[in-house]
Amino acid sequence: MSDTTQILNANFTPRIFSGIQPSGNLTLGNYLGALKRFAQKQDEGIETIYCLVDMHAITVWQDPDALRRQTREAAAAFIASGVDPAKSILFNQSQVSAHAELAWLLNCVARLGWMNRMTQFKDKAGKNAEKASLGLYAYPALMAADILTYHTTMVPVGEDQKQHVELTRDIAAKFNHDYGVEFFPAPEPLIDGPATRVMSLRDGSKKMSKSDPSDASRINLTDDADTIAKKFRKARTDAEPLPETIEGLSERPEARNLVNIYAALSEQTSAQVVTEFAGKGFGDFKPALADLAVAKLAPISDEMKRLMSDVTEIDRILGKGADRAEAIARPVVEKTYDIMGMVRSR
Ligand code: TYM
Repeated sequence: MSDTTQILNANFTPRIFSGIQPSGNLTLGNYLGALKRFAQKQDEGIETIYCLVDMHAITVWQDPDALRRQTREAAAAFIASGVDPAKSILFNQSQVSAHAELAWLLNCVARLGWMNRMTQFKDKAGKNAEKASLGLYAYPALMAADILTYHTTMVPVGEDQKQHVELTRDIAAKFNHDYGVEFFPAPEPLIDGPATRVMSLRDGSKKMSKSDPSDASRINLTDDADTIAKKFRKARTDAEPLPETIEGLSERPEARNLVNIYAALSEQTSAQVVTEFAGKGFGDFKPALADLAVAKLAPISDEMKRLMSDVTEIDRILGKGADRAEAIARPVVEKTYDIMGMVRSR
């Protein structure tokens, strides 16, 4: 953390915010890079706010019924992964209008040059960027609003979201500078643990993603034990045994990925895992990984199923979370309007 960040953030109560798009099945990447860590952060004495970002999801087409189901299922995944609605604020973004309102205000602060550098837009829009929605392009400013409307100081995310959190810092700094205030903090991305970038099981150069057309490329949190075991058995690897030290994995992305997953699931470092399996082939390692993954993930998918049998309870939790979120976000948006010169007379 730089000195100026430290000085600025000292004026703000530490607060954690993060979000996940309910745009499809959540994956092992979402679990290890985000959900599992969200649950751990609840017990560090810092307020934690977690959001199902349904307004981000619609930046690409979502079938309305599917979006409703996926939002509830993602809420179930949070709870089943250990996010406790009594300890954390858990809600869906569209129920707190402060996000959309602040996003507009920040759209007017963010610069086109900054948005043009966002690699996720380039990846998602692909060659046909003319046909992408305006929302997909503006999405990082909405994400900045999500974070800043809670005066968030820390954002636990996977590696792929780092650039968006850095943009959030740039937007906050420009706002503070342009209006001569120290109103927004400079949120820090928290990217830690052995699985900050879980890769596809079919291609070690691609991120594991809910939008990959190949289901075999990912473990879904809803996969049953047989499917999980089969996907790991078929995961692409090389023919070499596991090396003696972690450096031996530097040119072996698929092997490195499986080791990182094992490490994250077993609460070890990747170096410890390599030491344990040194000299063993994938014939030994993959079944061990599959057993570990089933032991850790099957209870989560079972609990998700149980929670999904009563969506009124899930909706109640999200509604209550939204009320609590609103109580924090509303005054921040009101103050932002005021700073920017909007008349507030009711
Ligand atoms: P999303 O929905 O793509 O992913 C949610 C979280 O999961 C992490 N993640 C991964 N981590 C490791 N390996 C992977 N293969 C992997 N895939 C996904 C992501 O890094 C993320 O932490 N723009 C965000 C959602 C968002 C948000 C926010 C996050 C909206 N507003 C405010 C933080 C704060 C996104 O699309 O994440």
